[in-house]
Amino acid sequence: MSVRILALVGSLRAGSHNRQLAEAAAKLAPEGAEVQVYEGLADIPFYNEDIDVEGSVPAAATKLREAAQAADAFLLFSPEYNGTIPAVLKNAIDWLSRPFGAGAFGGKPVAVIGTAFGQYGGVWAQDDTRKAVGIAGGKVIEDIKLSIPGSVTRFAETHPSDDAEVAAQLTEVVARLHGHAGEIVTA
Ligand SMILES: Cc1cc2nc3c(=O)[nH]c(=O)nc-3n(C[C@H](O)[C@H](O)[C@H](O)COP(=O)(O)O)c2cc1C
Repeated sequence: MSVRILALVGSLRAGSHNRQLAEAAAKLAPEGAEVQVYEGLADIPFYNEDIDVEGSVPAAATKLREAAQAADAFLLFSPEYNGTIPAVLKNAIDWLSRPFGAGAFGGKPVAVIGTAFGQYGGVWAQDDTRKAVGIAGGKVIEDIKLSIPGSVTRFAETHPSDDAEVAAQLTEVVARLHGHAGEIVTA
């Protein structure tokens, strides 16, 4: 059985380098793993407890929860906005964190990586993402880390899957996450 890894990307722009990283991860996934890049985070309203009640949950949030329930592991891609996690990714985590204690992360493995323009590659944002997703119920794999600096220049002409160093790093990230998820899937 294939391990299903759901990729959530914290940038909505069409030319997002984090989205390109996610696409590259999908391409480089080893046999037995499948990375699905989630579409639709832009359609999800800001989390609001008043609408997170039976009969009022927005269809876009339900769709995300169902995709997350069906996943065995998560790979989150975060750029850095003003020193922290972009709102779109935090919003997805908030929706997936509820119902309290029974959210869709459900103790499944989560790795957080990404690229940003600054010299540290968005490490603050990725650290904050690890903190939030851990509190939200994910099992954060703390030692899977990849923060690629200089996104705007590094990927100006080259897709991450055509950058040999990045492709090798992504291959390792996905293989290691697959290993963690595989332990759970076969347990
Ligand atoms: C609102 C905003 C805030 C940003 N703040 C930071 C920052 O704090 N650190 C950083 O390294 N880059 C920052 N950047 C630059 C982003 O890292 C860069 O645009 C990145 O490539 C965005 O990711 P994407 O290509 O996936 O859209 C910021 C960009 C925007 C639009």
